[in-house]
Amino acid sequence: MVRIDNNQWRTVSLNAEGTKLRLIDQTRLPNELVWLELSELEDIWQAIKTLAVRGAPAIGVAAAGGLALAARRILALDFPEFYQKFCRCKAYLASARPTAVNLGWALERLKRTALENKERSLTEVKAALIAEANAIRDEDIECCRSIGENGQPLLADFQAVLTHCNAGQLAAVQYGTALAPLYLARERGQNLRVFVDETRPLLQGARLTAWELQQAGLDVTLICDNMAATVLARGWVDAVIVGADRIAANGDVANKIGTSGLAILARHFKRPFYVAAPGSTIDLDCRNGKNIVIEEREPEEVCELWYSQRMAPEGINVFNPAFDVTPAELISGIITERGVVYPPYPENLSAMFKVIGGSKKL
Ligand code: MRU
Repeated sequence: MVRIDNNQWRTVSLNAEGTKLRLIDQTRLPNELVWLELSELEDIWQAIKTLAVRGAPAIGVAAAGGLALAARRILALDFPEFYQKFCRCKAYLASARPTAVNLGWALERLKRTALENKERSLTEVKAALIAEANAIRDEDIECCRSIGENGQPLLADFQAVLTHCNAGQLAAVQYGTALAPLYLARERGQNLRVFVDETRPLLQGARLTAWELQQAGLDVTLICDNMAATVLARGWVDAVIVGADRIAANGDVANKIGTSGLAILARHFKRPFYVAAPGSTIDLDCRNGKNIVIEEREPEEVCELWYSQRMAPEGINVFNPAFDVTPAELISGIITERGVVYPPYPENLSAMFKVIGGSKKL
């Protein structure tokens, strides 16, 4: 394994020439650190679909970069023809995964950029799209750093936390969301112990979070998902902290399957349950968790992947939802780049993130 420098490392980014999307292939971790350089729209769609790039903020940055690259190659005589082709590429990328709102949010930002520049030459429109994709990437780094700043004081008196899936640097561009306060705690000399759920069926916790935190020198203990109740019951965990794929206007949170069970456990064992996410994950147009589309994935992920031989009978029914919804009432606080939002969420989320007269531009 290759040691990484947390401050120099961008999980997903356009190259300096704006001709390729450079990203870590997360399917190869922890055994190999492989960088992909993609330029074809289909390859970028595939990278999102297969979780080579994953995690809500990273998906947004990848989609923005992918659409900007596709736009560069559009041949058109005028803006209407360009825009029609651009919208086709946008819809295609949006179809890769349904739950993380960052994907659609980033694509909408590029659409707005195209429309704002429609009076200019197509060369200028294309350059503006590359610039916007880079801006989304840079803002993500800043947002995650601020999430770390806002979240770290909440953990200052704690010895240990539990996290689920991967909401770290790999899931964003730098720092991550739920793991950003942990990185800052470490920078400030606090030695937090981090329990990491392995996160069945795709093992984002075992493969990615455990690796990422170990690389950064944190004290990591990996557990199977069904061991969380035991470590909480033993009093080993002071708080649970996770990321989010979409936060509805009422504070319901869609995140990796298994998150809502942890929230129920945290409530039972009287431990705070924090969600950390940038404003780009907050969907004020989505009233509550019932309106969030939950991705369902292939049965093979449950029955075959990671095993040397199939571990379930052929022909068995399999239910494989990739996410679940944690009800707002189980969430102690939502840590964002603008501050920590506390209940009542409907009022407080909208007060912090609503922009009068238009959708939020963060
Ligand atoms: O299916 P994944 O691996 O993309 O799911 C990712 C998660 O659920 C993360 O917790 C979420 O995207 C937040 S990442 C900062």
